[in-house]
Amino acid sequence: MSGPALRQLHAHRAIHEGGLSGAITKTEELMQHLRDGEHETAQLAADDLIDYWKTRVISHAEAEESGFYLEIAEENPELQEAVTMLTRDHDLLRIIMKDLEELREEEGLSPAVLQKFYALQIVNEIHSRDEERLLFPDEN
Ligand SMILES: [Fe+2]
Ligand SMILES: [Fe+2]
Repeated sequence: MSGPALRQLHAHRAIHEGGLSGAITKTEELMQHLRDGEHETAQLAADDLIDYWKTRVISHAEAEESGFYLEIAEENPELQEAVTMLTRDHDLLRIIMKDLEELREEEGLSPAVLQKFYALQIVNEIHSRDEERLLFPDEN
């Protein structure tokens, strides 16, 4: 899905903004269920949030790596280093998600697990900002 959307800053930024705002909303809902003592609903919300990160954000990263990043680096070899750094950001999202799921198996929705949901938000926010800046140098 390296469609033309990824190559246009406007459309690409909209994907980032939509992805992050959905994650923020779903994280807030999860926290509210925990504050309200609704533990079963909180577990379902956590399942939904993990699925959201995988299908909306990590899948976006994978689409970039399998098309957009390769094209950019081929067309602009000077952007290869940026592509490598941005791919590491994607790796961090995948690592945090893997750790989150493993820890949740052991601890349930512990404070450490909840922190990882916020860590995903922070890494993703910085990554999107840098991707928009580094890969669209003529449009910033
Ligand atoms: Fe990305
Ligand atoms: Fe992106």
